This record gives sequence, structure tokens and C-alpha cells, in this order.
Amino acid sequence: MAESMAGLKRTHRCTELSEANIGETVTVMGWVQRSRNKGGIIFTDLRDRSGLLQIIFEDKDIGEEGFEKAYRLRNEFVIAVVGKVCKREGEANKALKTGEIEIRANELRILSEAQTPPFPIEADSKTKEELRLKYRYLDLRRPDIQKNIILRSNIVNVIRNYFLGEGFLEIETPILQKSTPEGARDYLVPSRIHPGNFYALPQSPQLFKQLLMCSGYDRYFQVAKCFRDEDLRADRQPEFTQIDLEMSFVDVDDVIAVNEGAVSKVFKEILNVDVPLPIKRMTWKEAMDRFGSDKPDTRFGMELIDVSETVNGCGFGVFTGALDNGGSVRGINVKGQAEMPRKKIDALVEFAKGYGAKGLAYLCILPDGTYKSSFAKFLSEAEINALVKAMGGEPGDILFFAADKTNIVWNVLGALRLEIAKIYNLIPEGRFDFLWVTEFPLLEWSDEENRYKAMHHPFTMPMDEDVRFLDSDPGRVRAKAYDIVLNGTELGGGSVRIHQSDIQEKMFEILGFEKEDAYSRFGFLLNAFKYGVPPHAGLAYGLDRLVMLMVGADSIREVMAFPKVKDASDLMSEAPNVVDEKQLEELGIMLRPVNEVN
Ligand code: AMO
Ligand code: AMP
Repeated sequence: MAESMAGLKRTHRCTELSEANIGETVTVMGWVQRSRNKGGIIFTDLRDRSGLLQIIFEDKDIGEEGFEKAYRLRNEFVIAVVGKVCKREGEANKALKTGEIEIRANELRILSEAQTPPFPIEADSKTKEELRLKYRYLDLRRPDIQKNIILRSNIVNVIRNYFLGEGFLEIETPILQKSTPEGARDYLVPSRIHPGNFYALPQSPQLFKQLLMCSGYDRYFQVAKCFRDEDLRADRQPEFTQIDLEMSFVDVDDVIAVNEGAVSKVFKEILNVDVPLPIKRMTWKEAMDRFGSDKPDTRFGMELIDVSETVNGCGFGVFTGALDNGGSVRGINVKGQAEMPRKKIDALVEFAKGYGAKGLAYLCILPDGTYKSSFAKFLSEAEINALVKAMGGEPGDILFFAADKTNIVWNVLGALRLEIAKIYNLIPEGRFDFLWVTEFPLLEWSDEENRYKAMHHPFTMPMDEDVRFLDSDPGRVRAKAYDIVLNGTELGGGSVRIHQSDIQEKMFEILGFEKEDAYSRFGFLLNAFKYGVPPHAGLAYGLDRLVMLMVGADSIREVMAFPKVKDASDLMSEAPNVVDEKQLEELGIMLRPVNEVN
């Protein structure tokens, strides 16, 4: 039986009370964390989003009827309690913020009873994620998740205030847009009024924010929901949130400066962490050469070393073959692990193969200075010595080498470096290593589509000094594009945009769009450019990733209220789901049998 709260008004959240309130009569409301009867006294822990508070029910304060009611309390009942704040009679509970006090209840109302939840509502629950997500409304009651969600709200608040203070306007852009595929797959929404026509949900507000610059709004930002139909991972969801911004009359350094202000403010205010400014910058080329990644984790070393010149002409066909094919040979030096068991080495070789390696050569420098290696027999002693020297190898080290096309070598060793760091715990905790990666290539070649694709997006400006190669050698053109990286995660990315129609049209040409095709997709932007467009640039952060890194979570699912699972479904509401035949009819949609859909 649920009682009404009529006549009662909550006076405090649980942890708003302290010794300073002793003697006051207060009204608190929340969930029963647990309740136990200890011979005529009932101790109940009351929980709300602020934390826990101990309530004491005893005959002499609440009367027989009230005591009987308290006797019925079970976990997760929602109750209202009126009582007096007292100093704890028992020993203070140092683990609790309210551990010095207790409430002696003189009125209790059961506002809602509760079934036994399918898992305990407590921090660090070992419950399987599927069960947690099926009952997300219960999972969200757990104090560790509540902390994440509350912190997320605070983070957004700080960021919003920062950008407003810097003269940015918060402007919403449409969710129902035209589909302009280029990048991830779009989520489509059928139109009832225009049968056979579809809207697309935005992958980002990119085109609209550029239009806002054309319209003179000068500085825009938005906390923007984005939708991408792509394969999910720990740091990817089909719908996610960007802190999206755009600025007029600026170049790379201006965007970077404003954003360094944002990042340092949010880290200071939320975590009291000082982000040293300016944040380090590294070109894309340097990041790939040194770390084999465009989002390097710079919290530890084990950098890649190019030994192509050293092994050029050596007797090992795998190395020379890769060089003859225009590739390279690079290695990493894992310090002090020469005794790595064979099984572990083999596992790393398999790991490397998963990243496209044909093999992984290794050389252990044993403590007595002799070698154990998968390829040393092909090399002369002088060649081995030169290789070890180039790698900074010392007795006790193990060296790994990959030989292939350079982008494969980067990929393999970049992934191997992270894997080994994880295995041997080489990543220091409690550090926030920020990095700007700049000068990304404008284009990347797609073997699949036999054409260049935009590395960032088609509106990204080439670097001034590289524009002249657009026709002759598009692959070498660098872009005014930058990513902000934190501890090896891409936190955000952006670019200076093309604002000249001739360069934009050339860009579409390189990407293989016919002029009409480009106009039919992006005509509204290209036309807008004809009416006076300021030079502009911007950036977008993945808010979910930012919060994940700030709270130290392993997955963005831990910082989103209602995330989806790997197959993009919501286990709680069971979306996506079938719809009524009538809904389809209205939309003029007829479904194909599932076995015809791939
Ligand atoms: P980009 O595609 O790099 O750039 O996205 C910006 C940031 O959004 C985050 N992000 C994601 N987070 C969670 N799940 C996803 N599926 C996901 N995809 C991206 C990442 C990423 O760095 N319009 C441009 C920005 C610009 O040029 O201004 C854009 O969307 O943290
Ligand atoms: P093989 O002569 O094929 O047995 O190879 C000798 C060693 O070279 C083995 O340790 C292989 O794993 C390694 N290897 C093979 N291909 C490559 C490659 N592309 N890059 C680095 N090492 C390789």
C-alpha cells in the first residue's frame, strides 16, 4: 500500500545534514538501502542521489503503529521520514559523510513498495552488463554510476559557461536532415508526407554550423546529439554527444587557443587538475613515425624506430623484400623482457597478424650478450650489431620488428606497443597527457572504392603550401586539420574549412564527385558560399569520451544514462523493434523478407 506525501515537504537531501543540524526536526525522502531490526530498534539506511543517512525507528519516538510499519521496510522501498537529527549513539561511521549523526524518526510514510531488485544496488557491482542494461533504471541508482552522470552534468555546465563567456552563441541545428553520405552510414527516417523520401539523422552538425558562419553568427557552439550507423566499440555508440563549435575569421592557432582554455578550465574546475598550457603539438607524420598511431598515448615510451637503412642489403629476405616494395622495417624495444617465454612471444606474433602483419620478427638480447632470435641466422654478426645499436638494445631487452608497407608497419607496431604496455603495466596511472595532432593528410586512398576519400571531411582546407599539389600529387597534400588526443584516445577533431568555391569544387573533383552530384548533395552549402563567406574553422569533442576519461571509466557506456549494446540495440526498451503494418502503410513502405537483406 502506497501512502501519500501530502502535508510533507522534503527539507534536506540525505548528506546535506551534519552535526550542525543536531536538534532540528527534518523531513527526508529516498530509497531504503537496507533495514535491520536489532531487538526493538530498527536501523535503516536511507539513500538518495547525495548518499546515505541512518534512520532509527524506536517505539518510544514513533509509537507502536509506526514501529510496525518500519518493521515492513525492505530494500528499495521509497519512504518519507520526519525526525530529529541526533548525534549517533553507536560508534561514528567514518566511511559515511553523515556518519556522525542519525535521525530518530517520529513519522514514517511508505510512498512506494518495491520488489526485490535483480541485483544489489551498490557500487562496484559485479553484475553482468547485459543484466545491468536490461534494468538500467535500477543500475542508474548505483552510486558509482550516479557519480558519473552527475559529473557529466557538471562538466557540460562548465563547458557551456566557458564558451558563452568567450562570446559563443548556443544554437540548435536540425535533427531531421538531408542524407549526404560521406563518412559513416546514415540513420534514415522515412517521410510520411513525401512517400519514398527520407531524412537522415545528423552524423554531426557540420554543414549547418558552416552555414551559421555564412550567416554571420561568428562563434557557435552546441551540445549536439549525433548519430552514426557504424560498428560499435568501447568508445563508440550509435548515438553520442558532441560539444561542437565553429568560429569565423580564424586559423588553426585561434581554434587551438580557445580550446586549450576550455580543456584547462574543465579539468581545473571538475578535477582540480592543472593542464600545462600550451598543450604539446605533434604533426601526424611524427605521431605515426614515433608511435604508429594518429592518437598516440604519450604516457610511456617504447617508441617505434625506423631501421630500414640499417637492414638495407642484409641477408634476411623478409626485410629486404619489404624495402624493395617501397615499404619499411621498423621495430620497438621492450626493455628488460628478453626472458619473455616463447608462448608469450607467439601470442604477440598472432596479435600482430590480427593487425595485418605477415609475421613479427624478434631478437632477444640475453643477459650474457648472446642472442635468441627468429631471424638472426640470416644476418652477419656485424649486421646484427648494427641493428641492435640502432634499436638502443642492451642485454635484457627484446626487440620486435615488422617489415611491410609503411602504413601496415605503423599499424602493427602501434597496436603492439599498446598491447605490451598493457601486459607489463607500463602506463602510469593518474596522468592526463594531452596532445594536439596536426597536419593530417587531406586525403586517404581507398583500395576498396579505388578513389581518394577525405581523411576528415570534404570541407577541410589544404595547407597553404600544399595547395599546389592538389592536381599533381593529391596524396601528399596536408590539411589544416587537428585532433585533440588525451591518453591515447581521440577526444576531438576539427579543421579549418575551405571557404573558396574553386578549392571546394576541386576537392569534390578529387573525391570523384561529378559537379552535379556535388551540387545535388551539398548545393545549399556551395550556394551559400557564393553570397559572402568568412574564413572559418571549428572542432567537435566527443563529450562521452571526455567524461569517460575524466571519471576513469573503461567504456563510454558507463557515462551515458541509456547506452546501447554492441549490436546497437537497447536491452531495456528493446529498440529497434518492428512497427505496425499501419505505420508502414502510411509511409508507403513495403518490407523485403529478412533473408534478402544483408
Ligand atoms: P569527428 O567525426 O572527428 O568530427 O567527431 C568528433 C568527435 O566525436 C567523437 N565521436 C564519437 N563518440 C562516440 N561514439 C561515436 N560513434 C563517435 N564518433 C565520433 C570523437 C571525435 O573526436 N564535424 C566534425 C568536427 C569538425 O570538423 O568540427 C566531426 O564530427 O571524440
Ligand atoms: P620465416 O623465414 O617466414 O619463418 O620468417 C622468419 C621470421 O620472420 C619469423 O619470426 C616471422 O614471424 C618473421 N616475419 C615474417 N614476415 C615478417 C614481416 N613482414 N615482418 C616482420 N617479421 C616477419
